[in-house]
Amino acid sequence: MMFRVRIIDQFIWLISHLPIYAAISFLLIACNTSQERSTPIKNTQTNDFAVASAHPLATQAGINILQQGGNAFDAAVAVTAVLAVVEPYASGLGGGGFWLLHLADSDQNVMVDGREVAPLAATRDMYIGADGKSTDQSVSGPLAAGIPGTAAALVHIAEKYGQLPLSTTLRSAVDLARDGFQVSEYYQSRADAVIKRLSTFPQTADIFLPQGEVPQIGDVLQQSDLAKVLESISKYGVSGFYEGEVANKLVNSVQQAGGIWQLEDLKNYKIIERQPILGNYKNIDIVSAALPSSGGIVLMQVLNMLSAYDLQGMSDTDRKHMIIEAMRRAYHDRAEFLGDEDFVDVPVDKLLSMKYAKTRFSDLNMQFATPSLNLIDQDIVEAFPIVEEAQNTTHFSILDQKGNHVAATLSINYYFGSGFVAEGTGILLNNEMDDFAIQPGHANLWGLIGSEANAIQPGKRMLSSMSPTFLFDGKRTAILGTPGGSRIISMVLLSTLAFSEGATAQEMVQLPRYHHQFLPDEIQFEKGVFNEKTRSALKSKGHALNELGRNYGNMHTVIWNQQTNEVTAASDSRGIGQAQVGTN
Ligand code: GLY
Repeated sequence: MMFRVRIIDQFIWLISHLPIYAAISFLLIACNTSQERSTPIKNTQTNDFAVASAHPLATQAGINILQQGGNAFDAAVAVTAVLAVVEPYASGLGGGGFWLLHLADSDQNVMVDGREVAPLAATRDMYIGADGKSTDQSVSGPLAAGIPGTAAALVHIAEKYGQLPLSTTLRSAVDLARDGFQVSEYYQSRADAVIKRLSTFPQTADIFLPQGEVPQIGDVLQQSDLAKVLESISKYGVSGFYEGEVANKLVNSVQQAGGIWQLEDLKNYKIIERQPILGNYKNIDIVSAALPSSGGIVLMQVLNMLSAYDLQGMSDTDRKHMIIEAMRRAYHDRAEFLGDEDFVDVPVDKLLSMKYAKTRFSDLNMQFATPSLNLIDQDIVEAFPIVEEAQNTTHFSILDQKGNHVAATLSINYYFGSGFVAEGTGILLNNEMDDFAIQPGHANLWGLIGSEANAIQPGKRMLSSMSPTFLFDGKRTAILGTPGGSRIISMVLLSTLAFSEGATAQEMVQLPRYHHQFLPDEIQFEKGVFNEKTRSALKSKGHALNELGRNYGNMHTVIWNQQTNEVTAASDSRGIGQAQVGTN
């Protein structure tokens, strides 16, 4: 499938389609691509450290590690492990994620790719039934699970970048798993949403549905098997999870329940360090997730398309229309081109080039929405179900006093992942296999489609939207990210635009959210975010509107102002997280 490239003379097009202010700003910015920063960095170390995460117990664990002299990477290990215990609905040892690290000493950024991989026995059409339709096995049960990367990432980050031993950084998680944590209303609502799946597997129900029911608020949930696995990792490192007793239990349990994991899958699992996606938007340096996350590429594609225009000078409707049209095009390219680069050729340089962005946006019409089907040549697309997206996955942001920082987005995919706990481990397995294009041209849980680039292959990593991100405007560094499936990228995008216009950490996490992902061809938005005027203006341009019945996302942001040396942190009020700034 090839997208249609229409090369239209930019100047004639701008004059005929855009308000004159946008044309002027396009010319000014296009002629001045290398603007000097007006304000240089002042402080390279900070008086304060900060942690913002999706759970107060995880934030506290990170703060404790920083107070004990650990660095941001030690704190990231502690926070990851505690989230694995207290947010079983969002992330865990049975899942994976991306840890974006900034190393202050060398001024380097690295992405630790702990994404799950397809088992060696996986096949392209393993989720297609005899009737040619996809089964639910990519979502529920052990066949839905990719080989997890979180345990390997914990050990990798601790050994390569940390200062404290795993016995220290994993301590809080071990204690919370063994002694238990109090169930919140937030936990309850997530367990309620998938109670059927949790009940399907007795070993899962034993832990998460004691007495066959979702526990009451304030009940203490203990996970003694999980505590033992965490201790095994703390004692034996990677082999404490990927070999020996834990690995045997994982594989036996998965195979007995019809899954395809083998010991070799676990032994072969490797963390990959990747160069993050680097970009610039109107003098903001951007560092974001590389493939197999689509996050950094899609984010930069949208920003590149928007960079020629003065969004602040536009009417509210024009601004939203333009942002939505850029999202539509970038999400189209996600579906068409993106997959695990270790297996398929992805034209990353081309997708990230300004030349491509200008071409891609050359058919923008400020009067009318571009129907998504106009962006593709073949009519591969059926009516796509509108999928209600859940607030699973998790994110945290950390800054230490040396200026090291971490943005990490972690997942087991849907609430409580596949719902399957491997017997005797307490580990809930992910259902990230659903992030592959199960049937190219068909929508997944998030309503996202994909092409052959993201088809299943043994050992391949499934495409993700997780987008841990750093922003730097010459004086302020922002460390941010959020859960939210396919909407992660548009949330990070809206916050990036807000940061470029001076938003605080609090304003970034609280922004009202809207989203377009090419298909379904509609603008999705949080309840009440568009007023009547905006709705009718967007409708008159031909946009379909889908007001969701609730809000979404759970962003956590830390901002370090290197000019004033002030550190601020904020956690999204949509969740139950906590942001804390501390000092030694
Ligand atoms: N499982 C959600 C993502 O990786 O984007």
